[in-house]
Amino acid sequence: MIKNTEEANSRAVIFEALMENQGSIVSGTALADKLSITRQALSKNIAALKAEGLPVESVSQKGYMLSGVEDTDALSSTLITYSLRDNPMFGRCICLKETDSTQSVIKKLARGGENAGVVATAEVQEMGRGRRGRNWQSVSGKNLMFSMLLRPPLLPGEVQLLNLAAGLSLKNTLRALCGLPAELKWPNDILCRGRKLCGILSESAGEAERIYYAVTGIGVNVNMTEEEIPDELRGIATSVLIESGKTWPRWKILVDFLRRFAAAAGLLCSEGGAEALLALYRKECDTIGKEINVICDNESFSGTASGVTGQGALIVKTGNGEKIFAAADVVHLR
Ligand code: BTN
Repeated sequence: MIKNTEEANSRAVIFEALMENQGSIVSGTALADKLSITRQALSKNIAALKAEGLPVESVSQKGYMLSGVEDTDALSSTLITYSLRDNPMFGRCICLKETDSTQSVIKKLARGGENAGVVATAEVQEMGRGRRGRNWQSVSGKNLMFSMLLRPPLLPGEVQLLNLAAGLSLKNTLRALCGLPAELKWPNDILCRGRKLCGILSESAGEAERIYYAVTGIGVNVNMTEEEIPDELRGIATSVLIESGKTWPRWKILVDFLRRFAAAAGLLCSEGGAEALLALYRKECDTIGKEINVICDNESFSGTASGVTGQGALIVKTGNGEKIFAAADVVHLR
């Protein structure tokens, strides 16, 4: 473990030096001296950076060069952790090729006492989990799937507010960064032109008076093509590529989202912040004001969504008066 941490630190220092000199050759001798390591150890670290998918080039007899980072689609721990250096909440990202679920990866770290602020991504999830006991399907290496370890000072009944903060932040990322007409469907699905782009799931552990930790996991369909959409999701799911007509470096979407989410979660956990966050959410939630169908416990209700309560539940005006839903599936009708 100590050795792994040391290796990750060396990689981070090398990467930073290459990043600061993007497009220029950095001398191998200078890098090895900077870290007080042998040239052999340096080559091993460079090989590890390349294995993370980073565009590092070895220039014979001279050194190493990094170029085209902006365009790389690599989900690289070193690149993402480096890009989080100014983030007040997240400081480390673990990028996995394959796992059962990033939710489980983060929960395991949480139970082991890990501090908040760690993110785990995966190229493939064998048992991706969705809301209400569903599974989450994705396409290997094309989409973004990640979970975050949070330890907010919230009560168990307030975990829904984390979902709202995540939905709000993701909508803003997809609009501002990717230029998409993303819509926020209560509680936290992101749609684009009526089809689902992202799903969000928050799970927590705690006792009546406090939560020990919360794990918020997000799946964003990024570079999946129309043909790659699993049959059962055809017409229901879409991707950033399908909607914007271009592929996106997944790490950029992640880093932008984590910056916005850190601000939203920071606001939520500040004095009087929950109301301030809810005010932002109510403004941005595209369900409010719409004619909707709500499916809850095998019952279906139609009505107009009129608001969101202080705990994030949906208020719906139906023919039989006002109803409040803490958790349900919603379909936008008009
Ligand atoms: C939904 O049902 O809409 C929520 C889907 C959440 C999926 C993400 S993918 C990353 C993280 N790991 C999981 O197993 N689930 C969440």
